[in-house]
Amino acid sequence: MQNRLLKTLKGHIFTIPPLWMMRQAGRYLPEYRAVREQAGSFWNLCFNPELACEVTLQPIRRFDYDAAIIFSDILVIPKAMGQTVDFAPNHGPLLGELNHEQIHSFCNWSDFDAQLMPVYEAIKLTRNALDPSKDLIGFAGSPWTIATYMIDGGKGHEFSQSRQVLRSVEVLAPLLQSLTCAITRHLVNQVRAGATAVQVFDSWAALVPAELREQVLFAPLREIVTQVRQQMGDVPIIYFGRGIAESYLELAPQDLNIALGVDQHANLEELDRILPPKIPLQGNLDPEILIHGGEELEIAVQKILNIANNRPFVFNLGHGILPQTPISHVEKVCKLVRRGS
Ligand code: CP3
Repeated sequence: MQNRLLKTLKGHIFTIPPLWMMRQAGRYLPEYRAVREQAGSFWNLCFNPELACEVTLQPIRRFDYDAAIIFSDILVIPKAMGQTVDFAPNHGPLLGELNHEQIHSFCNWSDFDAQLMPVYEAIKLTRNALDPSKDLIGFAGSPWTIATYMIDGGKGHEFSQSRQVLRSVEVLAPLLQSLTCAITRHLVNQVRAGATAVQVFDSWAALVPAELREQVLFAPLREIVTQVRQQMGDVPIIYFGRGIAESYLELAPQDLNIALGVDQHANLEELDRILPPKIPLQGNLDPEILIHGGEELEIAVQKILNIANNRPFVFNLGHGILPQTPISHVEKVCKLVRRGS
């Protein structure tokens, strides 16, 4: 058994780093589009354990990645807490009105578990079908990132109401607290079902000004990490704080024993220089360069590989793979990474 991702997240340095790609199951794959069509809607796909398992395995079959990430979405949490979440074609998520009171006082955890059971079933099926040498990643959004969708309803990428709420702690704090509980529970449930590592996606972390990041991002993260480990032991956890690499300097000394995901705009060399060498890093190939391909792609991959030799490192993208990505470019990256130079 290899479990190269797990070993790396626990501090091992491989000559050839483990490789997976954020949003690796998705529309760039024709076999995904076929199953997605069969399912009829995005939610039908997410909540059908057999189909979710199938699309989780597709990228492993094609690219032999070191880890599968369970096919689901960060927005299953507001949905399971009673807020409507729809995916309109070609629009992205659209959420119904947020009822703060209902979320703050949410305590119907047996219903929450029941609604999310298909996700846990999909994890069980995938764990059984997946080669034991491969790791299976469970995930959730961070409290703040989920809150931005709940507050702004998924409309536009300005998140204007979320920015406003940053000024009213009395509104934001109970929402983050309630989401912290829900996220912890969802992660624990995923580990119980067979996920061997978990990632917390904080895709909208950069909306929070630096001086508020401890309170809005890192304190809730600390609580999630502590609670998950208290309940499930030493589970490897990856935190992907998109656009806030400069604040990793503040997070690193907290010794949370977590890996840090790095986006494509961060300076990986500098982070490697300044962050403690025991902290595993993950990233950070630019998804646009992956689309572009050519020599630029080769250079970008090599630049990341140079750092991968110095510390525990997981090769990944700096953000999710885009639908228009040519499959041949993904194959090229796999080849370059596995060449081991
Ligand atoms: O392969 C995997 O990585 C697992 C599946 C996965 C999805 N979403 C499937 C999905 C994961 C890990 C996510 C995380 C997610 N979802 C994030 C964090 C990562 C990031 O990209 O920043 C966010 C912000 C969401 C919310 C979300 N879901 C948005 C904004 C959208 C619409 C945009 C888009 O990419 O279409 C989704 C829909 C979604 N989630 C799709 C997929 C494959 C596309 C819908 C479809 O196939 O019809």
